[in-house]
Amino acid sequence: MAIDSVTPVAGKAVLLSAHTRHEIDLWLAKFPADRRRSAVLAALREAQHQNQGWLSTDIMDAVADYLGLPPIQVYEVASFYSMFETKPCGRVHVSVCTNITCMLRGSDDIVAYVEKKLGIKTGESTPDGKFFLKQEEECLAACNNAPMMMVDHVFHENLTPEKVDQVLDAVQ
Ligand code: FES
Repeated sequence: MAIDSVTPVAGKAVLLSAHTRHEIDLWLAKFPADRRRSAVLAALREAQHQNQGWLSTDIMDAVADYLGLPPIQVYEVASFYSMFETKPCGRVHVSVCTNITCMLRGSDDIVAYVEKKLGIKTGESTPDGKFFLKQEEECLAACNNAPMMMVDHVFHENLTPEKVDQVLDAVQ
């Protein structure tokens, strides 16, 4: 069944899928009607997901048109937060925390294991475009279960090589 968006679709907003527009509308409904800018973070997350893991200028412009904002207000958010990528990269984002608690609990070995398993270095994507091993993360507030990594914004904690295998092998 087709999903209709609540917001009229104009300009580059046509680049957003019906699903993406629907998800953005759900976020827009949480804010006052004159505060559409409040949905930028959520809208960029949806748009990045639609665009195979990164934000092109066209897709950021589409978000700006859909929210009725000047493009600069979208670019500045996309370029500030580490969860957004503005250059082509793998679809599934993997980041290992290497801050103090995770480091003391073996995160360097986990980074080395993930790099070996995926056959890439931190900051690179696999040739098939599936995985992007992002920069090492600062503390993600899961120190009590260190070491940890984030895979597409989902936390995986108490990591061992076996658990890394489990998590990454399960990614579609
Ligand atoms: S140091 Fe890794 S989650 Fe806090």
